[in-house]
Amino acid sequence: MEETKILLRPDMAKIKGIMLSKFSCENWEKIWSFQAHPDDLLIATYPKAGTTWIQEIVDMIIHGGDIEMCQRAPIILRQPFIEHHSTLMPSGLKLAEAMPPPRILKTHLPVQLVPPSFWEKDCKIIYIARNAKDSLVSYYHFQRMNKMLPDPGTWQEYFEKFLAGEVPWGPWHDHVKGWWKAKERQRILYLFYEDMKADLAREIQKVMKFLEKDLREEVIEKIIRHTSFQAMKENPMTNYTFLPSIDHSISPFIRKGIVGDWKTHFTVLQNERFDEDYRKKMMGTSLTFCNEL
Ligand code: A3P
Repeated sequence: MEETKILLRPDMAKIKGIMLSKFSCENWEKIWSFQAHPDDLLIATYPKAGTTWIQEIVDMIIHGGDIEMCQRAPIILRQPFIEHHSTLMPSGLKLAEAMPPPRILKTHLPVQLVPPSFWEKDCKIIYIARNAKDSLVSYYHFQRMNKMLPDPGTWQEYFEKFLAGEVPWGPWHDHVKGWWKAKERQRILYLFYEDMKADLAREIQKVMKFLEKDLREEVIEKIIRHTSFQAMKENPMTNYTFLPSIDHSISPFIRKGIVGDWKTHFTVLQNERFDEDYRKKMMGTSLTFCNEL
């Protein structure tokens, strides 16, 4: 893909210390004053936690397992990404405003940057977290392929940027901890990518209960088949082949989909450095992660 300076690899800027694309920063007032509806559902994640996976699951649950319905548009158009602003497509705000509630909306914002109206309207929120090491590996490949984000540099350079939180949407550690704390006071279903890998049927049941939906066993099985790694990789409505800014020849968006891929990337030294930094940053939280299945 031809890389033009204007459209691709746009500059980043910061809002309250969190790195976001300059387009999101320029539109921050509008994002912050976004008006949620009480029936809207927000799907929140740190990038690469399995956002697209849960988005498709939620769409299937809401539409009673109707695959055709879930093929109506690419996922980013079905479920607006509220802080997303680029020169390639309508902004998340525009898409959301054109959609009648109840809407399913997506964000990667850390909890402190979520537009206040989501709290005021007491919207339900589903948060998915993924272990830090696999998130780092997946994010590295994503920044290589996604020309709307900064070039990650070498693996070693990116490793340091991730630990320093100098990546889009800020530090992983604060993100997962911030949302973990928020679930004490808000209607948040906090799920883990690793649990979805271990027992998807069980996790789908949790989502159904949270959304107050009751589906027959065969519908749940259909959802499991439709949202399998292979099915989502082949599905043009979920695999992001519709976005020209993602260069799938560098790495596919639905890439490996496993727990523990970090073991093929981390050196022994990097692993030691990561663990030491992790202990300090995660000290005192009851939040725990699984790094291998
Ligand atoms: P990998 O890069 O480790 O393969 P997000 O949607 O938040 O950007 O997350 C993308 C990550 O979720 C990618 O991880 C992708 O492969 C994985 N993923 C997407 N759909 C999946 C599925 N159905 N099953 C397992 N993993 C999936």
